[in-house]
Amino acid sequence: MSSSQPKTAPPALLEARGVTVAFDGFRAVDDVTFTVAAGALIGIAGTNGAGKSTLFGALAGQLPVSAGEIRLQGRDMTALPAHRRAGLGLARTFQVPREFGTLSVLDNLLAAAPNARHETLAAAWFGRPGGRRRDAELTAQADEVLRLTGLAAMRDQPAAALSGGQKKLLELSRALMGQPRCILLDEPFAGVNPVLIGQLLEVLRAIHARGLALVVIEHHLQALKTLVQRLVVMDQGRILADGAPQAVLDDARVQAAYMGGVA
Ligand SMILES: Nc1ncnc2c1ncn2[C@@H]1O[C@H](COP(=O)(O)OP(=O)(O)OP(=O)(O)O)[C@@H](O)[C@H]1O
Ligand SMILES: [Mg+2]
Repeated sequence: MSSSQPKTAPPALLEARGVTVAFDGFRAVDDVTFTVAAGALIGIAGTNGAGKSTLFGALAGQLPVSAGEIRLQGRDMTALPAHRRAGLGLARTFQVPREFGTLSVLDNLLAAAPNARHETLAAAWFGRPGGRRRDAELTAQADEVLRLTGLAAMRDQPAAALSGGQKKLLELSRALMGQPRCILLDEPFAGVNPVLIGQLLEVLRAIHARGLALVVIEHHLQALKTLVQRLVVMDQGRILADGAPQAVLDDARVQAAYMGGVA
């Protein structure tokens, strides 16, 4: 019987359906439908205030939606708090990095590992060997992440000593500690010097090559175009265009939203 039925496609890795986020009635994100396939590499652009970061907040669980639903591998997680979504494989970075300045780079990564606090407390109070073993495993994982992101030389420095660009790499490193399937990156290139932008691009390509899906918010459309397979442009809370990067850049509505000056 089932052979006569049409094959249904597997659910998208991440899916927003009709998502609206309103602040006192103002729709910062307005009826957005958007899917991320496993292993995709997608850019999100749009002018200031278009709703890009708010959309990330809704997807990752920092902001409640006013309408719509969010699914991860077909599972409705609209009501789940951020840490539960992270546990299911969805990580994000913030536009303004959120490092702990007085902690070392390594400790920033350890603090970002799921259940790190619980494990550390258990180990400290009960001297559980399991806790120590887990600490050793987490440290090994953190060292691997730091090699991948190029921050290994800064491992024992306080995070406050990092440059702006290195703090972006630290944000990304912290996100990787949860072993995500998808990372939402909010303006990873903003304020980063050209040398580090090159390093960051290489790191993102390497992470993507390992099978992670990446969604990258970036104002600079031409830079984004060189990285992504698909480009989404938002304007006033809505998706204006979604498709192959060049086709989106050529779209008349996108040109108009950027007032003829696509960056
Ligand atoms: N917590 C909030 N309360 C009220 N309004 C908000 C809040 N957060 C965002 N907004 C408003 O929602 C709109 C979208 O903001 P958002 O930060 O998502 O834009 P963005 O596309 O990320 O912009 P940018 O490129 O400047 O980072 C803006 O008008 C902003 O002022
Ligand atoms: Mg933003």
